[in-house]
Amino acid sequence: VAVMIEIIQGEGGIHRASIEFQKGLRQLCDEHGWLLICDEVQCGMARTGKWFGYQHAGIQPDVATLAKGLGSGVPIGACMAGGRAAGLFGPGNHGSTFGGNPLACTAALTTIATIEQDGLMANAERVGALIRTLLGEALAGVKGVVEIRGHGLMIGIELARPCGELVGKALAAGLLINVTSDTVVRLLPPLIFSENDARELVDRSVPLIKEFLAA
Ligand SMILES: Cc1ncc(COP(=O)(O)O)c(C=O)c1O
Repeated sequence: VAVMIEIIQGEGGIHRASIEFQKGLRQLCDEHGWLLICDEVQCGMARTGKWFGYQHAGIQPDVATLAKGLGSGVPIGACMAGGRAAGLFGPGNHGSTFGGNPLACTAALTTIATIEQDGLMANAERVGALIRTLLGEALAGVKGVVEIRGHGLMIGIELARPCGELVGKALAAGLLINVTSDTVVRLLPPLIFSENDARELVDRSVPLIKEFLAA
């Protein structure tokens, strides 16, 4: 048996599992001998200010999956295993045509080195907090804004009604955003986002949200 969790749900609308929940889940898995798998494809690779989302709770999964930010756009995914899960696959048990290819692995290694050298974890934490603060100020009291939430550069603005049409409107205004779970504007800025970028993002996205909610 294994339990799989996404510490901050991306497609699910930027919902974050509480620290207590994560610790309790780890304990439950230990008690029952279940494996705990963390899907870190979206919330991993420094997006929340630490390498992996689960590190904020101080828990250690048996297996964690990575992709997206791992190669900075070069396609690569990884499955990490430790503890009881470490020996489940041996060399040659699980292969794929392009698995472990040097180009993708070099992109991943360079990404890891750059995140470390350029302090991008701290940047994600700091700039993400700034974006949420600025959004909170700019959208305070606006009817139809349910919640602004997230961690680091994984940010959701929940609105009171489905807002998928905002994706096209934002694109026309030069902004790449997404809407998940029908009602949540999702922002996943790059880890190199600066404080000026954050201010520009808020200045450009808030009027679109206000206009949408006023219609
Ligand atoms: C949390 C999460 N897990 C897994 C995937 C799938 O990853 P891949 O496209 O690399 O198979 C996605 C893709 O959006 C995702 O957001």
